[in-house]
Parts: sequence; structure tokens; C-alpha cells
Amino acid sequence: MTNSDVKTPRYGWALTGSGHFFKESLELMRELEPLDIFVSAAAEEVLNMYKQKLDQLPPGTRIFKDRTASAVPVGGFYQGVYHTLIMSPTSSNTIAKCVAGISDNLATNVYAQAGKTRVPSIVFACDNKPEDLTEAPRENMVKVYPRKIDLENTRKLGEFEYTTVVESIEELKQALMARRECLKSSSS
Ligand SMILES: Cc1cc2nc3c(=O)[nH]c(=O)nc-3n(C[C@H](O)[C@H](O)[C@H](O)COP(=O)(O)O)c2cc1C
Repeated sequence: MTNSDVKTPRYGWALTGSGHFFKESLELMRELEPLDIFVSAAAEEVLNMYKQKLDQLPPGTRIFKDRTASAVPVGGFYQGVYHTLIMSPTSSNTIAKCVAGISDNLATNVYAQAGKTRVPSIVFACDNKPEDLTEAPRENMVKVYPRKIDLENTRKLGEFEYTTVVESIEELKQALMARRECLKSSSS
């Protein structure tokens, strides 16, 4: 379906290759409508490893995989297709690239183009505390120790224009609720 055939403006959701709160992110995504999903190449692999599927999505949801060098689907940001970008979960790799202003794949491009078109982004940066527990593909919990550079990048991204960085699923739910309210009041 082309951008002129779908209901707009819509939510955009970028999935990256982080296993941290991957399943919970999919649950939240299923509640948003209308929606487009942008899947990084690593996220595609992680989906399989955690035995997850992009299913039970709202009707009309489009899924864009990272298949082009120029991130063709980002054109939608220039056509006013999106009112909000959510990126969750966000790997430390994608956070680092975004902080450096790099946009060399689908996930980093949607974040960069959202910023350049003044579309607000909500980013769940998973590496936000010095010690954490994360679920491995076999459902066992693993302890991780994000490095100083990871924590510093998360802090820096919070200073970017049109960006709200959240550090837990609870904060992500609150930010989504606030955004929904804001969209409702601006349309009434
Ligand atoms: C099972 C699995 C889980 C992973 N979980 C994380 C994670 O929680 N956080 C993270 O930063 N990277 C994680 N990675 C590594 C990323 O997938 C890797 O850095 C990848 O290059 C990220 O690409 P992307 O940022 O383009 O999606 C995980 C990799 C695998 C195989």
C-alpha cells in the first residue's frame, strides 16, 4: 500500500536488534493504530531468536524491512505520514549512531528524518543503568553491565531536539499515554 492509500497521520515504530524488553515492546505496539513498523536487519534476526512474530497487529499496519541502501520508506516523513516515532527496544549500537548523527540504515534513518521533519520521537534506550537483568533467547535472565560509553550516549540522546528518552517499559507506557492525549487534544 502506498502512502496515499493509507490512513494518515500514523505512528511509526522502529524495532532494533535489542533483546531487552523485546516482547514487551511488541505488546505495546499492538495497541497503536494506525501504525507502520520499521525493522532493522538485526531486529529481524532477534525476532526469530526470541521466537516472536509480527502478528496480531492493528488492521492496515505496514511492515518495512531494511532492504534498501537509501532507506526508501523514510520518504513518508517528508509527506507528513507520521505524527510520532517510537523506537523500542533500542540497541546501544543504534543509540550510538543516532547520537553521532549517523543515518546509515532504516532505524537510524527514521530517527534522523523524524528529527529533521520535527516529528517527536520516543526512544526506549535499553542501556540506561550500570547493571541490569535482561532476558536471553532461551528465556533465562542474564546480568549485563552497560559500559560508560553506552550510558553516556543514552544521556546525550535525551538532549536531542524532538526526542523523549525513556528508561523502562513503565516510562514508555506513560510517554505513549501522554502522546495519545496530546494528539487527541490537538485534533479536537
Ligand atoms: C539474542 C540477542 C540479543 C541482543 N540483545 C541486545 C541488547 O539487549 N542490547 C543491545 O544493545 N544489543 C543487543 N544485541 C546486539 C545487537 O543485535 C547488535 O549490536 C546489532 O548490531 C544491532 O543492530 P541495530 O542497532 O541495527 O538493530 C543482541 C543480539 C542478540 C543476538
